[in-house]
Amino acid sequence: MLELNIRLIGNDEAIPYDLLLSADPSEQALMAYLPYSTIYVAYLQDKLVAQYVLYQIDAQELEIKNIAVDDAYQGKGIGKLLLEDATLRANDAGYKTLSIGTSNASIGQLYLYQQQGFELSGVKMNFFIDNYTEPIFENGIQCKHMIMLTKVLINDTL
Ligand code: ACO
Repeated sequence: MLELNIRLIGNDEAIPYDLLLSADPSEQALMAYLPYSTIYVAYLQDKLVAQYVLYQIDAQELEIKNIAVDDAYQGKGIGKLLLEDATLRANDAGYKTLSIGTSNASIGQLYLYQQQGFELSGVKMNFFIDNYTEPIFENGIQCKHMIMLTKVLINDTL
């Protein structure tokens, strides 16, 4: 069982740019949403191993804008724990939905997000072509479109 400590990043703590850029290679995109977002960092003992970023779309909806686990710690269930943590925080804060977007080529991420209860809610056509200067490939497929997935939170049904 992983003893993962997930918490809000401290004011004086360094922003984990390496992790952020592993999930979103565009510095320009990062700089557009980071000032309006909240970063949560995950530690295994004193080692920073992962982070995720929450961004408020409106009073009803939060979006996970960025999520990344250090390469050496991937495949151990940390991504799942981060998604559970984000869900709990969004639910406790009274949001109705939590969304996340990934590319059409991100097969593993699409698997993980659906496994964790996120369902297809939209497609931002040509998002990666229109907003990124360099073509991006994953699994040998070009990232062209942003697939949006949304989870309806429990407090919505109370
Ligand atoms: N390819 C294949 N399967 C995957 C992948 C992948 N890239 N990522 C997760 N999975 C599967 C696992 O095999 C596992 O399946 P199982 O439950 O059937 O055994 C399940 O998803 C859960 O995996 P975790 O171990 O919890 O995931 P992990 O800790 O590796 O974190 C993450 C997943 C965050 C995608 C990590 O691989 C990562 O940081 N990747 C690089 C950055 C990235 O792509 N971030 C997401 C971009 S989209 C965005 O930021 C909104």
